[in-house]
Amino acid sequence: MPVRKLLSDVYEVGARDWSRRLFDEVIPLPDGTSYNAYLIKGSEKVALIDAVDPRTWNQLEENLKRFSNLKINYVISNHAEQDHSGCIPDVLRLYPEAKVVTNAKCKSFLMDLLLIPEDKFIVVEDHQRLPLGGKTLEFIIFPWVHWPETMLTYLIEDKILFSCDLFGAHIADSRLVLKKEDNAEIVEPAKRYFSEIMYPFRSNISNNFQKILDLDIKMIAPSHGLVYEDPDFIINCYKEWISDRVLNKVIIPYVSMHGSTQAIVDYFMNGLKERNIEYQPFNLTVADMGKLAMAITDAATVVVGACAVLGGMHPLVAQVVYLYNLLRPKTRFVSVIASYGWGSKMLEQIQSMLYNLKAEVIPPVLVKGYPKENDFKALDVLLDEIAKRHKSI
Ligand code: FEO
Repeated sequence: MPVRKLLSDVYEVGARDWSRRLFDEVIPLPDGTSYNAYLIKGSEKVALIDAVDPRTWNQLEENLKRFSNLKINYVISNHAEQDHSGCIPDVLRLYPEAKVVTNAKCKSFLMDLLLIPEDKFIVVEDHQRLPLGGKTLEFIIFPWVHWPETMLTYLIEDKILFSCDLFGAHIADSRLVLKKEDNAEIVEPAKRYFSEIMYPFRSNISNNFQKILDLDIKMIAPSHGLVYEDPDFIINCYKEWISDRVLNKVIIPYVSMHGSTQAIVDYFMNGLKERNIEYQPFNLTVADMGKLAMAITDAATVVVGACAVLGGMHPLVAQVVYLYNLLRPKTRFVSVIASYGWGSKMLEQIQSMLYNLKAEVIPPVLVKGYPKENDFKALDVLLDEIAKRHKSI
């Protein structure tokens, strides 16, 4: 991927990872990803904002070598996670005079993760400025997007916010900039990214969001995906996603081994339809976990459809309940509909795994074998309870 000019003396020099299909060995990447890095050339100093994942060092190296007689004075590290910081040691090897500019917490992480020596760092504070000559960087400490050490970098003269993971999207794309007329294209990848990465930290983002609103921003240049020509668009998406609002919708992640849980889920979905409640089932044997995460982001209710294996919950249910709990969802109501053969600890297991959840638990329906008349009546009670609560949304 050649060097791409964003504005005068501002270049994108990072990498496209077209084939990557898994991030953190758990997050699906249907569209690959990018590790964006930006080179800012002032009249006196040159700064590189973030680096790339080590698997794509060759792309960053090639891009930097296209600049004749390039000297890098500063490597700005907005975030210590290795998909952006992993090649900082390589950059320092290529440009030994460069210093790593970051906040104290990020410095500590980079020393631990990448063994960068302490004398290579310049530590900055919130709103500290770094003049490059005609271009000035301002650092904005913005913790928990999505690690505790994260910060943003603002290029004052050009009004570009380099937001690292915040506002990012896991897509590889030959374009550098998302044109305003193409905004709709980014909603799904950006929401998927938000749901998988940022969602558990939405209150931290909300608490600091004014820092972004206070800036005069012409472009947002994240570390994954495309540069936003229309920053208000993604800012407004985030305002919605970090809000406490929920939809009149029930998400049903489920597994059925021999059809009993499927029959329960089918009856349950019909009941939701009759009560004018939106629903979305996810058969966990084939579900896209990113789409499930997106759906969970703003639904009022989650009802887990479980079946028993060896007296416990099915492992696919366990995996999803575990991840769901990690997301700290804003779900208002949860319940379980399940089938077992000879005995089950499923309900206790599921409840014990949802320790982060503040949702009201609506009494579940546990069915022995295939659902019968009394079970359908119990499902009707659950459906009525959900409908009653959804009326207040
Ligand atoms: Fe894209 Fe948190 O790294």
